[in-house]
Amino acid sequence: MATEPALLLTNIKQLVTLRGRTGPRRGHELNDLGILEDAAVLCAGGKIVSVGAMKEAAHDPWIKKSKKKLEEIDCSGKVVLPGFIDSHTHLIFAGPRLIDFEKRVAGASYEEIAEAGGGIRSSIAGVRKASVKELAAKALAALNQMAAQGTTTVEAKSGYGLSAEAELKSLEAVAEAARRWPGTVVPTLLGAHVVPPEFKGKPEKYVREVAEKMIPQAARKKLAQFVDVFCDRGALTLEDTERIFAAAQQHGLGVRAHLCQLTASQVWPLLRFKPASLDHMDRVGEEDITQLAKRETVVTLLPGANYFLGLKQYPDARRLIDAGVPVALATDYNPGTSPTTSMPFVLSLACTQMRMTPAEAIAAATINGAHALRLAGCKGSLEPGKDADLAIFDVGDFREIPYWVAPGRCWATMLSGQLTNLNRGSLSA
Ligand code: NIG
Ligand code: FE
Repeated sequence: MATEPALLLTNIKQLVTLRGRTGPRRGHELNDLGILEDAAVLCAGGKIVSVGAMKEAAHDPWIKKSKKKLEEIDCSGKVVLPGFIDSHTHLIFAGPRLIDFEKRVAGASYEEIAEAGGGIRSSIAGVRKASVKELAAKALAALNQMAAQGTTTVEAKSGYGLSAEAELKSLEAVAEAARRWPGTVVPTLLGAHVVPPEFKGKPEKYVREVAEKMIPQAARKKLAQFVDVFCDRGALTLEDTERIFAAAQQHGLGVRAHLCQLTASQVWPLLRFKPASLDHMDRVGEEDITQLAKRETVVTLLPGANYFLGLKQYPDARRLIDAGVPVALATDYNPGTSPTTSMPFVLSLACTQMRMTPAEAIAAATINGAHALRLAGCKGSLEPGKDADLAIFDVGDFREIPYWVAPGRCWATMLSGQLTNLNRGSLSA
């Protein structure tokens, strides 16, 4: 990193900084993007050095002092913002689920398909058969697609191996892909995705397997930062979730859950574990909303799943935001309910289907995603000292990011100070 030139992004039409606040954003704070017009950003050694008006950039004291080679990138007519934080993905799986897809097109529901032998359980065999190398190669391809659309940090879950061996292998694949990707990957153990066939009828035995085997091993090998549970009908119960969260805490891992996606559930019994995020939350009740409005736990909305499952109902973002709950947006990239790597598409869904404003959607996909991963100290806004993770869009107004649907207009992405993108053409252009 030290040998790389410093990068000065110049002539930025709109620089979306999201600077100047602590804690996850709630209510009207989500609309305050801290936009600078005709601006510049200086990055060196993988960090942001300064952010400010274009006319001051050339006199930046750092530039005068440093002997580093300086590369200028002309961002005329473009929008620069913090790289997206995709805080919920199921990065490790072996292949698409096309039979499920056809069945759903023909009218079957997600739960009917799962009961008939499709769903999460039908992804297990592929992962168990695959090598770390194969899984990592697929994960890396997805990470590169994400980067090409402005994403610089990705949370990556296991969850399709569902044995101690295959879950640990999945997390090793996450680590291998992360080593080969310049962005940041946050690994999560989702051994508690569903009860696998060999534990059919013995869910408590499987919960013990997760709590007493997978969690300790993942923690010891430092392969996971978080533990997730799919707490819903047909998956794990609230009591199972509490047991698994307790084990995660014992081993120093953070917790997060899939909750209220298919059925309504009480949320408050989980709040004592201080989950970093609770995700989906399509059916959360009024009393729990009041509780969540007082907490730091981020509610991560995943409209890609509602879209792909053909649901008419989306998470009630307006009710949550207006009550003061901090919300984030993520892709939920997975083979069953949300096969998309595109944060701009998710932002578009948030605006068109959930009536979030473009500004709220951007804050939810950047700074609040960073809070959902407990990374807001170094990511999610453009401020000196934070990581040089940026997205450059070939648009003149930030509202165009959710406006242009599929494909988006990402022009380049900077991951830990490294400028990459398949879409930008020549740098000097
Ligand atoms: O977030 N809800 C649980 N997990 C995924 C779906 C996984 C699958 O169907 O493969 C989700 O939607
Ligand atoms: Fe998910």
